[in-house]
Amino acid sequence: MTLPKVGVVGCGLMGSGIAQVCAVAGYPTWVRDVAPPLIDKGLAAIEKSLSKFVEKGTLPAEQKAAALSRLQPTLRLEDLADCDLVIEAIIENPDRKRELFAELDKIVKPGAIFASNTSSLSITELMTATHRAPHFLGLHFFNPVLLMQLVEVVKTVVTDPAVISLGMEFARQVGKVPILATDRAGFIVNRLLVPYLLDAIRALEEGAGSIEDIDQGMKLGCNHPMGPFSLLDLVGIDTTYYIAEILFDEYREKRFAPPPLMKRMVLAGMYGRKTGKGFYDYSDPKNPRVNRLLEV
Ligand SMILES: NC(=O)c1ccc[n+]([C@@H]2O[C@H](COP(=O)([O-])OP(=O)(O)OC[C@H]3O[C@@H](n4cnc5c(N)ncnc54)[C@H](O)[C@@H]3O)[C@@H](O)[C@H]2O)c1
Repeated sequence: MTLPKVGVVGCGLMGSGIAQVCAVAGYPTWVRDVAPPLIDKGLAAIEKSLSKFVEKGTLPAEQKAAALSRLQPTLRLEDLADCDLVIEAIIENPDRKRELFAELDKIVKPGAIFASNTSSLSITELMTATHRAPHFLGLHFFNPVLLMQLVEVVKTVVTDPAVISLGMEFARQVGKVPILATDRAGFIVNRLLVPYLLDAIRALEEGAGSIEDIDQGMKLGCNHPMGPFSLLDLVGIDTTYYIAEILFDEYREKRFAPPPLMKRMVLAGMYGRKTGKGFYDYSDPKNPRVNRLLEV
Protein backbone atom coordinates (compact mmCIF):
# COMPACT_ATOMS: atom_id res chain seq x y z
CA MET A 1 0.00 0.00 0.00
CA THR A 2 1.34 3.47 -0.82
CA LEU A 3 0.91 5.85 2.06
CA PRO A 4 -0.31 9.35 1.34
CA LYS A 5 2.32 12.01 0.77
CA VAL A 6 2.70 14.59 3.48
CA GLY A 7 4.06 18.12 3.09
CA VAL A 8 5.29 20.02 6.14
CA VAL A 9 5.84 23.75 5.70
CA GLY A 10 8.32 25.22 8.17
CA CYS A 11 11.26 23.20 9.48
CA GLY A 12 11.70 24.95 12.84
CA LEU A 13 11.10 23.52 16.28
CA MET A 14 7.63 22.12 15.51
CA GLY A 15 7.91 21.49 11.74
CA SER A 16 11.06 19.38 12.11
CA GLY A 17 9.39 17.30 14.86
CA ILE A 18 6.23 16.81 12.80
CA ALA A 19 8.26 15.85 9.71
CA GLN A 20 10.19 13.36 11.82
CA VAL A 21 7.12 11.57 13.24
CA CYS A 22 5.59 11.41 9.73
CA ALA A 23 8.75 9.93 8.19
CA VAL A 24 9.14 7.39 11.02
CA ALA A 25 5.49 6.36 10.56
CA GLY A 26 6.25 5.59 6.90
CA TYR A 27 4.88 8.66 5.12
CA PRO A 28 6.89 10.07 2.22
CA THR A 29 7.38 13.57 3.62
CA TRP A 30 8.34 16.81 1.91
CA VAL A 31 9.57 19.50 4.26
CA ARG A 32 9.91 23.09 3.15
CA ASP A 33 11.64 26.10 4.71
CA VAL A 34 12.71 29.41 3.20
CA ALA A 35 16.52 29.19 3.29
CA PRO A 36 19.10 26.36 3.12
CA PRO A 37 20.56 26.97 6.64
CA LEU A 38 17.05 26.65 8.14
CA ILE A 39 16.41 23.37 6.36
CA ASP A 40 19.87 22.13 7.34
CA LYS A 41 19.28 23.02 10.97
CA GLY A 42 15.92 21.21 11.01
CA LEU A 43 17.32 18.12 9.32
CA ALA A 44 20.31 18.05 11.68
CA ALA A 45 17.87 18.13 14.63
CA ILE A 46 15.94 15.20 13.11
CA GLU A 47 19.16 13.22 12.52
CA LYS A 48 20.32 13.83 16.08
CA SER A 49 16.97 12.88 17.55
CA LEU A 50 16.71 9.67 15.50
CA SER A 51 20.26 8.73 16.57
CA LYS A 52 19.26 9.17 20.21
CA PHE A 53 16.34 6.77 19.74
CA VAL A 54 18.72 4.26 18.11
CA GLU A 55 21.23 4.63 20.99
CA LYS A 56 18.44 4.05 23.51
CA GLY A 57 17.39 0.93 21.60
CA THR A 58 13.87 2.20 20.90
CA LEU A 59 14.43 2.50 17.12
CA PRO A 60 16.31 -0.06 14.99
CA ALA A 61 19.19 1.56 13.02
CA GLU A 62 17.68 0.48 9.69
CA GLN A 63 14.44 2.31 10.58
CA LYS A 64 16.42 5.47 11.17
CA ALA A 65 17.92 5.17 7.68
CA ALA A 66 14.49 4.40 6.21
CA ALA A 67 12.93 7.41 7.92
CA LEU A 68 15.68 9.70 6.64
CA SER A 69 15.23 8.34 3.12
CA ARG A 70 11.53 9.29 3.24
CA LEU A 71 12.33 12.93 4.00
CA GLN A 72 12.56 15.28 1.06
CA PRO A 73 13.83 18.75 2.00
CA THR A 74 12.94 21.56 -0.37
CA LEU A 75 12.87 25.33 -0.72
CA ARG A 76 10.17 25.18 -3.42
CA LEU A 77 6.47 25.13 -2.54
CA GLU A 78 5.84 23.62 -6.01
CA ASP A 79 7.35 20.36 -4.76
CA LEU A 80 4.33 19.95 -2.49
CA ALA A 81 1.90 19.97 -5.43
CA ASP A 82 1.24 16.25 -5.23
CA CYS A 83 0.87 16.00 -1.43
CA ASP A 84 -2.31 14.55 0.08
CA LEU A 85 -1.92 16.39 3.37
CA VAL A 86 -0.04 19.66 3.94
CA ILE A 87 0.72 20.69 7.53
CA GLU A 88 1.71 24.31 8.06
CA ALA A 89 4.14 25.00 10.94
CA ILE A 90 5.60 28.43 10.14
CA ILE A 91 5.88 31.39 12.48
CA GLU A 92 2.79 32.42 14.45
CA ASN A 93 1.82 35.37 12.25
CA PRO A 94 -1.68 35.45 10.71
CA ASP A 95 -0.68 37.46 7.61
CA ARG A 96 2.28 35.21 6.83
CA LYS A 97 0.17 32.10 7.33
CA ARG A 98 -2.70 33.40 5.18
CA GLU A 99 -0.27 34.37 2.37
CA LEU A 100 1.23 30.89 2.51
CA PHE A 101 -2.14 29.11 2.41
CA ALA A 102 -3.33 31.26 -0.52
CA GLU A 103 -0.18 30.30 -2.43
CA LEU A 104 -0.47 26.61 -1.49
CA ASP A 105 -4.12 26.64 -2.57
CA LYS A 106 -3.03 27.44 -6.14
CA ILE A 107 -0.22 24.87 -6.16
CA VAL A 108 -1.44 21.77 -4.31
CA LYS A 109 -3.78 19.34 -6.05
CA PRO A 110 -7.52 19.70 -5.47
CA GLY A 111 -8.85 17.42 -2.75
CA ALA A 112 -5.68 17.56 -0.67
CA ILE A 113 -6.17 18.38 2.99
CA PHE A 114 -4.64 21.51 4.56
CA ALA A 115 -3.85 21.68 8.27
CA SER A 116 -2.38 24.34 10.50
CA ASN A 117 -0.36 23.67 13.64
CA THR A 118 -1.14 27.13 15.05
CA SER A 119 -1.36 27.37 18.84
CA SER A 120 -3.54 30.42 19.06
CA LEU A 121 -4.82 31.70 15.72
CA SER A 122 -8.29 30.99 14.38
CA ILE A 123 -8.35 28.01 12.01
CA THR A 124 -11.40 29.57 10.35
CA GLU A 125 -9.50 32.78 9.62
CA LEU A 126 -6.62 30.84 8.04
CA MET A 127 -9.06 28.65 6.11
CA THR A 128 -10.65 31.69 4.41
CA ALA A 129 -7.37 32.32 2.56
CA THR A 130 -8.13 29.16 0.54
CA HIS A 131 -10.94 27.77 -1.59
CA ARG A 132 -10.95 24.42 0.18
CA ALA A 133 -12.84 25.15 3.40
CA PRO A 134 -14.28 21.61 3.85
CA HIS A 135 -10.74 20.22 3.56
CA PHE A 136 -9.17 22.53 6.13
CA LEU A 137 -8.57 21.67 9.80
CA GLY A 138 -6.21 22.23 12.70
CA LEU A 139 -3.65 19.60 13.72
CA HIS A 140 -2.15 21.00 16.89
CA PHE A 141 0.92 19.06 17.99
CA PHE A 142 2.60 19.77 21.33
CA ASN A 143 6.19 20.68 22.11
CA PRO A 144 8.41 18.63 22.08
CA VAL A 145 6.61 16.79 19.29
CA LEU A 146 8.56 13.58 19.80
CA LEU A 147 7.68 13.25 23.47
CA MET A 148 4.21 14.75 23.75
CA GLN A 149 1.43 12.30 23.00
CA LEU A 150 -1.40 14.70 22.26
CA VAL A 151 -2.70 16.16 19.00
CA GLU A 152 -5.72 18.46 19.08
CA VAL A 153 -7.71 17.91 15.89
CA VAL A 154 -9.56 21.16 15.34
CA LYS A 155 -12.78 21.46 13.36
CA THR A 156 -14.34 24.60 11.98
CA VAL A 157 -18.03 25.08 11.24
CA VAL A 158 -17.44 23.84 7.69
CA THR A 159 -14.83 21.08 8.01
CA ASP A 160 -16.07 17.91 6.31
CA PRO A 161 -16.61 15.21 9.02
CA ALA A 162 -14.73 12.73 6.79
CA VAL A 163 -11.72 15.08 6.87
CA ILE A 164 -11.91 15.19 10.68
CA SER A 165 -11.90 11.37 10.75
CA LEU A 166 -8.86 11.33 8.46
CA GLY A 167 -7.13 13.86 10.73
CA MET A 168 -7.83 11.72 13.81
CA GLU A 169 -6.57 8.60 12.01
CA PHE A 170 -3.46 10.41 10.76
CA ALA A 171 -2.62 11.49 14.34
CA ARG A 172 -2.90 7.87 15.50
CA GLN A 173 -0.72 6.69 12.59
CA VAL A 174 2.09 9.04 13.68
CA GLY A 175 1.88 7.59 17.18
CA LYS A 176 -0.19 10.29 18.86
CA VAL A 177 -3.47 10.39 20.73
CA PRO A 178 -5.98 12.76 19.09
CA ILE A 179 -8.73 14.72 20.78
CA LEU A 180 -11.37 16.68 18.93
CA ALA A 181 -11.58 20.41 19.59
CA THR A 182 -13.73 23.17 18.16
CA ASP A 183 -12.14 26.25 16.61
CA ARG A 184 -12.20 28.57 19.63
CA ALA A 185 -9.11 30.48 20.78
CA GLY A 186 -6.84 28.19 22.78
CA PHE A 187 -8.72 25.08 21.60
CA ILE A 188 -8.99 22.85 24.71
CA VAL A 189 -5.56 22.69 26.33
CA ASN A 190 -4.42 26.32 26.19
CA ARG A 191 -7.89 27.55 27.08
CA LEU A 192 -7.54 25.71 30.41
CA LEU A 193 -3.77 25.93 30.91
CA VAL A 194 -3.18 29.63 30.19
CA PRO A 195 -5.63 31.03 32.80
CA TYR A 196 -4.01 28.71 35.37
CA LEU A 197 -0.54 30.08 34.53
CA LEU A 198 -1.83 33.66 34.63
CA ASP A 199 -3.47 32.96 37.99
CA ALA A 200 -0.16 31.71 39.39
CA ILE A 201 1.38 35.09 38.47
CA ARG A 202 -1.57 36.89 40.09
CA ALA A 203 -1.11 34.75 43.23
CA LEU A 204 2.53 35.84 43.32
CA GLU A 205 1.57 39.49 42.77
CA GLU A 206 -0.90 39.25 45.65
CA GLY A 207 1.68 37.70 47.98
CA ALA A 208 0.00 34.29 48.29
CA GLY A 209 3.39 32.61 48.48
CA SER A 210 6.93 32.58 47.14
CA ILE A 211 7.88 31.41 43.64
CA GLU A 212 9.32 28.15 44.90
CA ASP A 213 6.43 27.47 47.30
CA ILE A 214 3.81 28.01 44.59
CA ASP A 215 5.78 25.71 42.26
CA GLN A 216 6.27 23.13 45.01
CA GLY A 217 2.58 23.36 45.97
CA MET A 218 1.39 22.42 42.51
CA LYS A 219 4.02 19.69 42.11
CA LEU A 220 3.42 17.94 45.41
CA GLY A 221 -0.20 18.90 45.99
CA CYS A 222 -1.51 18.20 42.48
CA ASN A 223 1.15 15.84 41.14
CA HIS A 224 2.03 18.19 38.26
CA PRO A 225 5.44 17.33 36.76
CA MET A 226 6.49 20.97 37.23
CA GLY A 227 5.14 24.08 38.90
CA PRO A 228 3.56 26.98 36.98
CA PHE A 229 6.65 29.24 37.12
CA SER A 230 9.01 26.53 35.86
CA LEU A 231 6.50 25.83 33.10
CA LEU A 232 6.19 29.52 32.18
CA ASP A 233 9.97 29.78 31.96
CA LEU A 234 10.07 26.70 29.74
CA VAL A 235 7.27 27.68 27.34
CA GLY A 236 8.42 31.32 27.23
CA ILE A 237 6.82 34.20 29.11
CA ASP A 238 6.65 36.17 25.84
CA THR A 239 4.87 33.30 24.03
CA THR A 240 2.38 32.80 26.86
CA TYR A 241 1.77 36.57 26.99
CA TYR A 242 1.04 36.60 23.27
CA ILE A 243 -1.39 33.67 23.56
CA ALA A 244 -3.11 35.32 26.57
CA GLU A 245 -3.68 38.48 24.52
CA ILE A 246 -5.39 36.43 21.81
CA LEU A 247 -7.53 34.56 24.36
CA PHE A 248 -8.50 37.84 26.02
CA ASP A 249 -9.36 39.33 22.68
CA GLU A 250 -11.67 36.38 21.93
CA TYR A 251 -13.41 35.97 25.31
CA ARG A 252 -13.00 39.41 26.98
CA GLU A 253 -12.76 37.77 30.40
CA LYS A 254 -10.35 38.79 33.16
CA ARG A 255 -9.08 35.26 33.62
CA PHE A 256 -7.41 35.47 30.19
CA ALA A 257 -5.89 38.95 30.72
CA PRO A 258 -2.10 39.00 31.18
CA PRO A 259 -1.29 40.36 34.66
CA PRO A 260 0.85 43.56 34.95
CA LEU A 261 3.96 41.71 36.20
CA MET A 262 3.93 39.49 33.12
CA LYS A 263 3.83 42.47 30.79
CA ARG A 264 6.75 44.11 32.67
CA MET A 265 8.80 40.92 32.39
CA VAL A 266 8.20 40.75 28.64
CA LEU A 267 9.15 44.44 28.24
CA ALA A 268 12.34 43.78 30.21
CA GLY A 269 13.28 40.81 27.99
CA MET A 270 12.78 38.28 30.79
CA TYR A 271 11.29 35.53 28.64
CA GLY A 272 12.39 32.56 30.77
CA ARG A 273 14.93 29.89 29.86
CA LYS A 274 15.54 31.20 26.35
CA THR A 275 16.88 34.54 27.63
CA GLY A 276 18.46 33.08 30.77
CA LYS A 277 16.08 34.89 33.11
CA GLY A 278 12.41 34.61 34.02
CA PHE A 279 10.90 33.52 37.30
CA TYR A 280 14.22 31.75 37.78
CA ASP A 281 17.75 32.79 36.85
CA TYR A 282 19.49 30.25 34.60
CA SER A 283 23.10 31.60 34.81
CA ASP A 284 23.90 28.11 36.08
CA PRO A 285 21.37 26.12 33.98
CA LYS A 286 21.59 23.00 36.14
CA ASN A 287 20.82 24.96 39.32
CA PRO A 288 18.23 27.64 38.51
CA ARG A 289 17.89 30.23 41.30
CA VAL A 290 14.64 31.98 42.19
CA ASN A 291 14.48 35.54 40.86
CA ARG A 292 13.75 37.24 44.21
CA LEU A 293 13.30 40.68 42.61
CA LEU A 294 9.85 39.53 41.40
CA GLU A 295 8.47 38.72 44.83
CA VAL A 296 6.42 41.30 46.77
N1 LIG B 1 6.89 26.18 19.96
C1 LIG B 1 5.85 25.61 20.55
O1 LIG B 1 5.86 25.29 21.75
C2 LIG B 1 4.62 25.31 19.74
C3 LIG B 1 3.71 24.33 20.18
C4 LIG B 1 2.58 24.05 19.40
C5 LIG B 1 2.36 24.75 18.22
N2 LIG B 1 3.25 25.71 17.84
C6 LIG B 1 2.98 26.42 16.58
O2 LIG B 1 3.80 25.87 15.56
C7 LIG B 1 4.13 26.88 14.60
C8 LIG B 1 5.64 26.94 14.44
O3 LIG B 1 6.23 27.22 15.68
P1 LIG B 1 7.76 26.88 15.96
O4 LIG B 1 7.94 26.99 17.44
O5 LIG B 1 8.16 25.63 15.25
O6 LIG B 1 8.48 28.13 15.26
P2 LIG B 1 9.97 28.23 14.70
O7 LIG B 1 10.29 29.68 14.68
O8 LIG B 1 10.88 27.30 15.43
O9 LIG B 1 9.86 27.70 13.19
C9 LIG B 1 9.17 28.35 12.18
C10 LIG B 1 9.88 28.04 10.88
O10 LIG B 1 9.04 28.45 9.80
C11 LIG B 1 9.89 28.97 8.80
N3 LIG B 1 9.08 29.76 7.86
C12 LIG B 1 8.62 31.01 7.99
N4 LIG B 1 7.89 31.34 6.88
C13 LIG B 1 7.90 30.27 6.07
C14 LIG B 1 7.33 29.96 4.80
N5 LIG B 1 6.58 30.84 4.16
N6 LIG B 1 7.54 28.73 4.27
C15 LIG B 1 8.28 27.83 4.94
N7 LIG B 1 8.85 28.04 6.14
C16 LIG B 1 8.66 29.25 6.70
C17 LIG B 1 10.94 29.74 9.55
O11 LIG B 1 12.06 29.97 8.73
C18 LIG B 1 11.21 28.79 10.71
O12 LIG B 1 12.22 27.85 10.40
C19 LIG B 1 3.49 28.17 15.12
O13 LIG B 1 2.25 28.35 14.52
C20 LIG B 1 3.32 27.89 16.62
O14 LIG B 1 2.24 28.62 17.19
C21 LIG B 1 4.37 26.00 18.55
